Amino acid sequence: MTISSEHAPLLEAARAAAEATYSPYSHFPVGAALLGANGEVIKGCNVENISYGLTNCAERSALFSAISQGQVPRSFKVMAVYAPKVELISPCGACRQVLLELMAPDALILCQGSDPEQSRTWTLEQLLPGAFNAF
Ligand code: THU
Repeated sequence: MTISSEHAPLLEAARAAAEATYSPYSHFPVGAALLGANGEVIKGCNVENISYGLTNCAERSALFSAISQGQVPRSFKVMAVYAPKVELISPCGACRQVLLELMAPDALILCQGSDPEQSRTWTLEQLLPGAFNAF
């Protein structure tokens, strides 16, 4: 599924979020934007560390930020993810597990890279079939 035009503002927020990236090791900026139940948009970017494994992806940054700000877990229906240095971005395995737990069960994940024609919209079931799930 490609990205519906109704989600253009959320994708624009993901692009803006990528500008805030702290990625001096990979030089691979990623931005994510989450639509809160109250209509608020919460952004996240990847934040790296010299101890590489401590890196936080943009998707998890957005979710952790939203919940830290008082948004309700599993109330999020849409997340947009943008990465300019790849034709199409795809969430990593760790983020897929976190998305499954914290997004709404019927949420959509919109992914875009440098080639908008390749953009994809994923369901959580498509991202992590047969998952170990808490809900
Ligand atoms: N990264 C994300 O933030 N989201 C993804 O979907 C894939 C990868 C980050 C982690 C790291 O900072 C950089 O991109 C390269 O892997």
